[in-house]
Amino acid sequence: MTLIALLAGDGIGPEVVAEARRVLDATGLTLAYEEAPVGGAAYRAAGHPLPPETLALAARADAILFGAVGDPAYDSLERALRPEQAILGLRKALGLFANLRPATLFAGLEDASPLRPDIARRIDLVILRELTGDVYFGEKAQHRTTDGRREGYDIMSYAEDEVRRIATVGFEMAKRRERKLCSVDKANVLETSQLWRDVVIELSADYPEVALTHMYVDNAAMQMVRNPGQFDVIVTGNLFGDILSDQASMCAGSIGMLPSASLRTWSGDTGLYEPIHGSAPDIAGQGKANPCAAILSAAMMLRHSLGQEAAAARIEAAVAAAIAGGARTPDLGGSLATAAMGDAVLAALESGAA
Ligand code: NAD
Ligand code: IPM
Ligand code: MN
Repeated sequence: MTLIALLAGDGIGPEVVAEARRVLDATGLTLAYEEAPVGGAAYRAAGHPLPPETLALAARADAILFGAVGDPAYDSLERALRPEQAILGLRKALGLFANLRPATLFAGLEDASPLRPDIARRIDLVILRELTGDVYFGEKAQHRTTDGRREGYDIMSYAEDEVRRIATVGFEMAKRRERKLCSVDKANVLETSQLWRDVVIELSADYPEVALTHMYVDNAAMQMVRNPGQFDVIVTGNLFGDILSDQASMCAGSIGMLPSASLRTWSGDTGLYEPIHGSAPDIAGQGKANPCAAILSAAMMLRHSLGQEAAAARIEAAVAAAIAGGARTPDLGGSLATAAMGDAVLAALESGAA
């Protein structure tokens, strides 16, 4: 039987994962779930944010549905024990180098976007973020210089094979969409980015049907609010992709709407699925979180890891129908509680409106 590892984590993680699970259950698919602690919750229970049992469950599951990790109470622990190390450790240990972060504006959410409706309406892009390299995983430390000043450093690096494999995913995705790939880097300043750009250009010879462009990340941030409709697939490194995807989410109405898939092959086998948002300590435990990003992540899981395209599309259509019908959590300008938003999606799914 298909095994889903449910790693709900901290803050609003458990609140949004619970709604995603209700929606999965309503698809009629037979799925087995196993839960395990992760993040701050795991540190509290077991003294480590990613206990070996949790990693083992993730490794043997067919797919992982992840909530969020992060707890301000643990922000001053030594880095290796902080909640965030759990998600970084899972990505690295499972080799999940390709992070798909699709951003589209659901009809009706024009008002939630700070962009003008005619601009917001055109958002339909995927940020393809490299997820296991870059400054995230280079050597890092703080120390004292010989003259006694504190200094911190984080080494940013990419090897050519790391760039080639993520760029390959980018070209393959673009081929199946609008055939436009924008590689975002900072090649005017960073050697890491110059290598990135060189490798992407070399690879482009194999994809004559894809229109490749390059953009510096500062300009990309500006273009994302000026005219996000210009983008189809954006391929970029770990840090730039992290930042640009939060920005894209708001252009599309809310960070509570953006799902993600973290994969290790282009065709997709075991993958980790999570909203792009974090544990939102400011609203945790209040029933205010928007569960749509988690629900849409579950749909991506059905599509990319479980071969259930029809059920994935039904869930996405149910979210669209709920939104079109006026269902709104506070982040979208409404007043529905998390579970009530889940109810609205379930109602759409069950009424066949989807
Ligand atoms: P965040 O994404 O948790 O929250 C940013 C803002 O967006 C907050 O105001 C929050 O209330 C709001 N928000 C986020 N998700 C929402 C949702 N589903 N519905 C409604 N509003 C939502 O980012 P942060 O505040 O910078 O970080 C909080 C903690 O989460 C930190 O510990 C951080 O390290 C962690 N984090 C974890 C992940 C992850 O697990 N993958 C991702 C990002 C941040
Ligand atoms: C994300 C988060 C993580 C990241 C943190 C929590 C390590 O911001 O998934 O977007 O930076 O990758
Ligand atoms: Mn992030």
